[in-house]
Amino acid sequence: MTTVLAIETSCDETAVAIVNNREVYSSIIASQIPVHQQYGGVVPEVASRQHLETINQAIAQALEQAKLDWDKIDGIAATCAPGLVGALLVGLTAAKTLAMVHNKPFLGVHHLEGHIYATYLSEPSLNPPFLSLLVSGGHTSLIYVKDCGIHETLGQTRDDAAGEAFDKVARLLKLGYPGGPVIDKLAQQGDPQAFVLPEGKVSLPSGGFHRYDASFSGLKTAVLRLVQQLEKDGKQVPVKDVAASFQDTVARSLTKRAIACALDYGLDTIAVGGGVAANSGLRKNLQAAATEHNLRVLFPPLKFCTDNAAMIGCAAAEHLSSGHTSPLTLGVESRLAL
Ligand code: KG4
Ligand code: ZN
Repeated sequence: MTTVLAIETSCDETAVAIVNNREVYSSIIASQIPVHQQYGGVVPEVASRQHLETINQAIAQALEQAKLDWDKIDGIAATCAPGLVGALLVGLTAAKTLAMVHNKPFLGVHHLEGHIYATYLSEPSLNPPFLSLLVSGGHTSLIYVKDCGIHETLGQTRDDAAGEAFDKVARLLKLGYPGGPVIDKLAQQGDPQAFVLPEGKVSLPSGGFHRYDASFSGLKTAVLRLVQQLEKDGKQVPVKDVAASFQDTVARSLTKRAIACALDYGLDTIAVGGGVAANSGLRKNLQAAATEHNLRVLFPPLKFCTDNAAMIGCAAAEHLSSGHTSPLTLGVESRLAL
């Protein structure tokens, strides 16, 4: 068993966790959302400063909550990519310093790998191979997880990520930031069939459409046009129905692609990860389709869908158990393929 102290500072959450393989001993998430809300989105410079102010306290809290001393920690990990460079640097530098001072192995973790392994935190029986549907604010991908750290991307969005679409639609409906949770809440009180919206499709040069790739920018534009038309006609925008129709379109698009991919590749398990994995419409839609096709679909606990350090610790424990470590010269990358 491997006990890891993990740090995640890729965007707007200062998170520190201690995990023992798939068991979470402590998970601290100091959210910056209220700070960024006033700007309508994440301001990178503000995020870095907030991480600096919060990180030491979050580390101390994680150790206190886990009731552990340093001698019980087997390794230190931090997200090294992708993300905001200044924000990543705070967490990575803190982790490298702790590894040096306490003479522990160090590991840099890819943020998306954290989201993939978040499902492990509630599923002791999940092991590769499986299909990961990764739906966050920056990424939307279908990933064939073959083994620890061995992945193949089979499909992705050609434009906006699913979470980004939620955030943009929320902004145009004047619902604030972040958009996913508020749209999800309103959608549950609206009619998903109130408006027919286009599910973005990616054309193939040979004709027909790509089975796994998605597109959400056309859908976002369609919502904008719908709202503009309603306003032009002097009608009140039925926000709950627009939210429900939009959410249902995203959920159906993701479900259709994930199911096709799993069936084509003979994978019987779909593990969903990333902030949009918290979405009630996606959960319902995908679960129903998976049951129909005799597939298993797994979601992380809600608190581990959005950014957290427990998922980074879980991915790190997998790697450290396999003997993987990173050099202390490791740097951060704003963009890095999985
Ligand atoms: O994984 P995450 O915390 O950060 C990234 O790595 O991007 O994902 C954040 C994204 C945001 O776009 C947010 O609006 C979306 O996840 N999100 C949701 C929900 N909760 C968060 N989208 C739809 N429904 C939700 N319940
Ligand atoms: Zn994330």
